[in-house]
Amino acid sequence: MLVRNIFKGHIGQQCPNILLQRLVTKQHPHASPAPSYTTAAAKEELTPLAKHIRDIILATGPISVAKYMQLALTSPIGGYYTKGQIFGKEGDFITSPEISQMFGEVLAVWYVLHWELMGQPPKTVFVELGPGRGTLMDDMLRAAKRFKEFFATIQSIHLVERSPELRRLQHDKLGCDPQTTKNVNDKNDNGTPVESVSKARGSLPVKWYDLLEEIDVDIDCVPLVMAHEFFDALPIYKFEKSNAGVWSEILVDVADSDSEPMDMRTTAKPSNTQHKSIFDGTESCNFKFVKARNVTSNAAMIMRNEAFNSRFDKGDHVEVSPESARVMAQLADWISTRNGMGLIMDYGQDWTQGDTFRGVRSHKFANPLSMPGSMDLTADVDFSYLRYAASNKAQCHGPIEQGKFLHAMGIQARLQHLLQATTDTKVQKDLVDCYRRLTDPHSMGRIYKVLAVMPTDIKKAPIPFALPSKEELNKPKIEKITR
Ligand SMILES: C[S@@+](CC[C@H](N)C(=O)[O-])C[C@H]1O[C@@H](n2cnc3c(N)ncnc32)[C@H](O)[C@@H]1O
Repeated sequence: MLVRNIFKGHIGQQCPNILLQRLVTKQHPHASPAPSYTTAAAKEELTPLAKHIRDIILATGPISVAKYMQLALTSPIGGYYTKGQIFGKEGDFITSPEISQMFGEVLAVWYVLHWELMGQPPKTVFVELGPGRGTLMDDMLRAAKRFKEFFATIQSIHLVERSPELRRLQHDKLGCDPQTTKNVNDKNDNGTPVESVSKARGSLPVKWYDLLEEIDVDIDCVPLVMAHEFFDALPIYKFEKSNAGVWSEILVDVADSDSEPMDMRTTAKPSNTQHKSIFDGTESCNFKFVKARNVTSNAAMIMRNEAFNSRFDKGDHVEVSPESARVMAQLADWISTRNGMGLIMDYGQDWTQGDTFRGVRSHKFANPLSMPGSMDLTADVDFSYLRYAASNKAQCHGPIEQGKFLHAMGIQARLQHLLQATTDTKVQKDLVDCYRRLTDPHSMGRIYKVLAVMPTDIKKAPIPFALPSKEELNKPKIEKITR
């Protein structure tokens, strides 16, 4: 009951730190150095996927950016996420869980705290959307194991993942029975997903799904949901407000059509980058952005929301992800009806932006229309839209900056424990570098944000969303760390 008492009275820095002391003082070897980002020159070639997209456009006319994004990321004929080796130094990008174990560990503490707050429900399930290599879930489970009463409530793990290759990596990361490796993409005769068992994590059943709505767990199981860098991968539509005040859709056409190309650029400012905003290689690309000649049904349907008209001027661009809103509404409903809790962590802003759609290849920004399937495609998350989609279904708190969230959850205390556990100065330096990268406002600490999703009837804001914004609490105190 310790956690709940602190929560009722004075929510403070000690709260997660006390729990952090129970984590194993050991570093796991998945830290890696910071990437640099610059704009990449595209070397064009008509891959089978590019040919497939070209054929669709030639048959039906220019396609939406959302359709292009969905094909380029998840098409079975070479979509980007059908591959496995996309993370880390050798891959295209690195995510927070892959930078340091500290990330997953302090997140586990967040779930333990709120499980206590909710009266220690006897049955829980972990649900992750877009689990990548499975590192975050593995780190959270390893940390959660230190809290025996909490860990005993976990009934199963549910992973929403489209990529067959990443499912295999997640299976291995979670220490699932090798006998079942080939089954992660199979379904039982009745259509339910095949179940594996995570031997490394206390014989927990693990299941994979294409969609959130496929998850079927007992009604008395409280879902603990995580979506880290999931929403930024969901398809977006792009629109421009015309001089007449009408929204025109920005589409993707084949490069050799007679339509006027649009000179697109991104205004996104990711962490630790030296990027240029204009995409190189446009001239060698098989595809181009064009403005729809007439009002499309997407423009009519999606942009009829009055909020978009009043907030934007002529010539402005907006990016909207109705798929994100759909998933968010479902997630919010699910969390509320089952008394669960969720964290959404991603890069983005709490408002609608216009030109953040970009490719990411070999840790550099790239023209998103170059060589579909060869790079990650992403757009900043519009947290205001996610909150709007969840409204009436669940309470949303935040977004707050990742750096502030991790500090409030005790990442510095965790860092100190890990530093004290080793005399190897290189390991110590790596730990401090990783901590800085995750929390520094000029690195990932500000652009990455955290949104908490809680049931509608919870009376208090979750930790640390309830904390008063005292600047000194959130300031990194790195100079006090002795190497
Ligand atoms: C950028 S990665 C993030 C991975 C992981 N959460 C991390 O932070 O390391 C995006 C993840 O979402 C998955 N994904 C992308 N689009 C998806 C979709 N429509 N449905 C399910 N999973 C999807 C990808 O396969 C991948 O696992």
